[in-house]
Amino acid sequence: MPPGLIERYRDRLSLEPGDPVVTLNEGSTPLIEAPRLAERIGARAYLKFEGANPTGSFKDRGMTVAVSRAKGRGAEAVICASTGNTAASAAAYAARAGLRGAVIVPEGKIAIGKLAQALMHGARVVALQGNFDDALTIVRELSQKHPIELVNSVNPHRIEGQKTAAFEVVEELGEMPGALAIPVGNAGNVTAYWRGFQEVESTGSSPLPILYGFQAEGAAPLVGGSPVAHPETVASAIRIGNPARWEEAMTAFTTSRGRVAAVSDEQILNAYHWLADTEGVFCEPASAASVAGLLAHGLPVVEDAEPPESVVCVLTGHGLKDPDTALGKAPAVINCGNDLSAVERAVFD
Ligand code: F0G
Repeated sequence: MPPGLIERYRDRLSLEPGDPVVTLNEGSTPLIEAPRLAERIGARAYLKFEGANPTGSFKDRGMTVAVSRAKGRGAEAVICASTGNTAASAAAYAARAGLRGAVIVPEGKIAIGKLAQALMHGARVVALQGNFDDALTIVRELSQKHPIELVNSVNPHRIEGQKTAAFEVVEELGEMPGALAIPVGNAGNVTAYWRGFQEVESTGSSPLPILYGFQAEGAAPLVGGSPVAHPETVASAIRIGNPARWEEAMTAFTTSRGRVAAVSDEQILNAYHWLADTEGVFCEPASAASVAGLLAHGLPVVEDAEPPESVVCVLTGHGLKDPDTALGKAPAVINCGNDLSAVERAVFD
């Protein structure tokens, strides 16, 4: 079993010498070649399947570092606002570290698997009558007022841990990818990938990738250029109207000569279904925004640049997190009597 991220990359992370290592052996997720996607976009395509992390999303990369540091500083509890995945991950790593955990989620707007995870790991789960942005404002204040560690991606150690996904991509490909496509919510992950790629480049590796970020049409503040007061999308994980890492994300898109664009819920759900059905990879709806964006917008390049030869799509979370959306989109189950010929008809007709 590969070791966790801290053991693999400790000298490139932000831990202090005496910090404990709180790990669930996160990272080392598969980079899966995607030939059908490659055909449709005209470049080599890979899926970085972050759903293979211990709690089923990329958040674990940041959480191993943030919770280790929190424990090292003597914290007794952690808190976060979340659309679901951060809550699941914070709850798991808090349990592992022997810390108390509290998670604030928008009432009725998180996928059922994520809720089950947070509860099973023993966190105090608070359903706020408000959205993610409201929840983040509140936990920022609470963590100022009380001795409780904030583990949202405004915590610098989260970004440090998440940048390791960029290290893995380059290690696996043996070079930088030409482009990276990524869903954007609070904009921590794109910030982390950009930092990771920049750190790899500073050791002499080839040109930085172009970054393509995708937001859901009803929750696309970076695309519209101003906060969205009432974000709405089927991709509940990225239902965010005022990203905390707005400036850093925009710098990453501009500097990499990439862009941020919007995809509709229909495009997201089509890509979600198509990936499961065609490439055999089941991610959650928000994750499919990266592929939906490429299918909708292609591989746009600025004048005089060559189109990228390879693109990595970040699939941020596992499809099993959100069975309700999956079943809403799936074909009907065929009911059948306990009888050979009835089963034969059901299978072959
Ligand atoms: N994809 C998934 C599955 C997510 O859970 C998130 C964010 C994102 C993409 C966007 O990443 O915020 O770094 O730009 N989820 C957070 C949460 C907000 O609370 O779980 P980002």
